[in-house]
Amino acid sequence: MSAQSQASARLDGFDAARVRGDFPILNQQVNGHPLVYLDNAATTQKPDCVIEAVAGYYRRDNANVHRGVHTLSDRATQLFEQARITLAAFINSPGAQQVVWTRGTTEAINLVAQSWGRSVLRPGDRVLVSWLEHHSNIVPWQLVAQATGAEVVPVPVEEAGDIDLDALDALLDERVKLVAVNHVSNAIGTVNPVVEITRRAKAAGALVLVDGAQAVAHWPVDVQSLGCDFYAFSGHKLFAPTGIGVLWGRETLLEAMPPYQGGGEMIETVSFAGTSYNQLPFKFEAGTPNIGGAIGLAAAVDYLAGIDRVAAAEHEAALLRLTLELADAVEGLRRIGAPRDAAGIFSFLLEGIHPSDVGMLLDQQGIAVRTGHHCAQPLMERFGIPGTVRASYSIYNTREDVVRLFDGIRKARSLFC
Ligand code: ALA
Repeated sequence: MSAQSQASARLDGFDAARVRGDFPILNQQVNGHPLVYLDNAATTQKPDCVIEAVAGYYRRDNANVHRGVHTLSDRATQLFEQARITLAAFINSPGAQQVVWTRGTTEAINLVAQSWGRSVLRPGDRVLVSWLEHHSNIVPWQLVAQATGAEVVPVPVEEAGDIDLDALDALLDERVKLVAVNHVSNAIGTVNPVVEITRRAKAAGALVLVDGAQAVAHWPVDVQSLGCDFYAFSGHKLFAPTGIGVLWGRETLLEAMPPYQGGGEMIETVSFAGTSYNQLPFKFEAGTPNIGGAIGLAAAVDYLAGIDRVAAAEHEAALLRLTLELADAVEGLRRIGAPRDAAGIFSFLLEGIHPSDVGMLLDQQGIAVRTGHHCAQPLMERFGIPGTVRASYSIYNTREDVVRLFDGIRKARSLFC
C-alpha cells in the first residue's frame, strides 16, 4: 500500500466530504478553479445552520437584550443567555456566569490585562509569555507593563518550535504573577502542553491565561481539567461569525476584578455620588453586545455536537501526516518548526521564492493560504525569517485539498526555478 493510500484509508473514519457539503462557500470556483480553502487559522468558514441561525434571529427576534419588557426583547434575551449556557457547557465551565462575551480572543486578553493586570501588577512583577505568542498575547501585556512598572519576559522556544520547559522553570520565581501562553501556535501549529505549563506555573504561585483561539475548533476543550485561570477564544475560528468571542475566567478572580469598560448593562446603579456594578458576567459587558454573533456561535457549537470530534481531530492529523509526506518530495521546501505535537497547521518556505509570491501563485490556482509573519513577529525573529507560507486545515478539508496544494506548490516552483 502506498503512503498516500494508507493515509486515505486512515481518513475513512471521518466523512469530510459530507461535512464539506454543510459549508456553502466551499462550493465555488475561484480564479477558474474549485476553491481549496486552507486559511482556517485566520478564519473558518460557516455552515448553513450558523448562517440560518443568525439570519433567523434578525428576521424574527431582533431586539436589545436585558432591557425591554416586550416580547421580542424577551425572546432575544432568552436566545442570548441560552447561547451563554451552550458555550459554558462546550468548555465545561462550572457556571455560565464565568462566560464573558467579548469581540474575540484579542478583546478577551485585553480585558484581563486591563482589569486584572492594572489592578494587581506592581513594579518588578513579571508576566511570562512565550516566543510562540500571537501579538494579541504580547502587546496587551506590554501596555499594562508600561502602565504598572511590571515586566513582560519571554519564555524561549526550542529550534523545533516547542516551548523550552526547563527555561520556563528557571524563569518561574516569586516575581511571576501570570503566565500567558497559547494552546496552539497560530504560526507553526505547536500544541503546547498547557496542563503541564499550568501545573508548573501554579506551583510557583502564578496565574495562567491560555489563548485558545487555535485550539477550540480542533478538539474538545475542558477548562476545568486544564486547570488554567483564564481561557480566551474567538467565534470566527470556530465556524461562527466575526466579532464574538469568549473570555472564561475562574469565578473568584472575575469577582475580584474591576470593570473593563464603563457603560450601560455593566452597572447596578449609577449616581454622581458613586456607581455600583452589575453581577457577573454583565460587569464586563458594557454596551449592547453582539447578540446575533452569540446566537451564531451557539449554533456553531450545536453543529459541532453532531460531529464525532475525536474522528475529526484524527482526520486533521491524517491531513497533516499526508502533508509532511508530500512535502518531503518537494525540492527546496523547508518546513518551519517541527513541534512534538502539531495541530493542522503547516508553515513552510520555498527556496528562492518570496512567501507572498507563493501565496499569489497558489491563489491563481484557487488555493487560499496565508503568507507573512502571521502576527507572530517574535517567532519569525526566533527562526531568522521574515515570514512563511501557511496552510491550515479544518474539518471540511480533504486529502484532495492537500494534493491540490502540492500540485500548486510544484507549479509555483516550476515558474521560478
Ligand atoms: N490570528 C489569525 C491568523 O493566524 C488571524 O491568521
